[in-house]
Amino acid sequence: MVIFLMFSGLFATVAAQDKIVLGFSQVGAESEWRTANTESIKNAVANDPRIELKFSDAQQKQQNQIKAIRSFIAQGVDVISFSPVVQTGWTTVLEEAKAAGIPVVLTDRKVDSDESLYVTLVGSDFVEEGRKAGAWLAQAMNGQANIVELQGTVGSAPAIDRKAGFEQIIQHFPNLKIIRTQSGDFTRSKGKEVMESFLKAEGENIDALFSHNDDMAIGAIQAIEEYGLKPGEDIKIVSIDGVRGAFEAMIQGKLNCTVECNPLLGPQLVEIVKGVVDGKEFPKYIPVKENIYVQSQAKEVFSERKY
Ligand code: AHR
Repeated sequence: MVIFLMFSGLFATVAAQDKIVLGFSQVGAESEWRTANTESIKNAVANDPRIELKFSDAQQKQQNQIKAIRSFIAQGVDVISFSPVVQTGWTTVLEEAKAAGIPVVLTDRKVDSDESLYVTLVGSDFVEEGRKAGAWLAQAMNGQANIVELQGTVGSAPAIDRKAGFEQIIQHFPNLKIIRTQSGDFTRSKGKEVMESFLKAEGENIDALFSHNDDMAIGAIQAIEEYGLKPGEDIKIVSIDGVRGAFEAMIQGKLNCTVECNPLLGPQLVEIVKGVVDGKEFPKYIPVKENIYVQSQAKEVFSERKY
């Protein structure tokens, strides 16, 4: 019996040592999208006996992410992964991870550091999402609209790229004009607050809203209703993510279109992490497949939505 216990204890130690320790630094919990992304990562790891997760929430602050990454390095984790809150300012900490021999996998958002400092990025093509939103709006408004824009977190990859993609399209329509643009930091409360200020300044001069995510659009919908206008009718709205809240708003006729940004990256991340440890090679960018949904499809598609 004693021998068996000693043996099984030894086995347990070896098995524990064999686990791949993944340190993951998440942006925060700013949106429905982010909650789904966190759940997807936690569930995928929980379902994989080879990986143990150390999870840290940065509350949308870069300094918290850098601190978490340094702590992962000090703990000697096997792989570090993070979704960078902003695009710049990562080179030093990435060099520290490289010097410690710890591979880094980026999820969701890119960094502007040298590619040699990370293994791969798995995430969406934000420029393409912005283009899809622009193309939908140009068609829906027959090439003529005063647009207000709610941008995501200042300096974040999705805010920079979605704006760029949207502008690539609307520049071909001289009568599509962005009359106000400001960051709502990807949150509902800020989206509402900024939309209130747009309405105060422009009132019924606003024909359309381009929101860099659904949460800000949902906040803006409240602001538009409180102002006495009808969201989705008086002001056409296109946003990005495709979360359930957006589908509910479309079913109610308050949102016109959402461009999908898939947060369910957990299973892909788990496969990449195991592959990295097993010495597999990866391309520097692994895209995620995405769709676009309009109001008329919302009811039919709603029950299939996974986030
Ligand atoms: O990086 C993805 C973006 O971050 C999502 O569009 C947004 O909702 C989230 O906060």
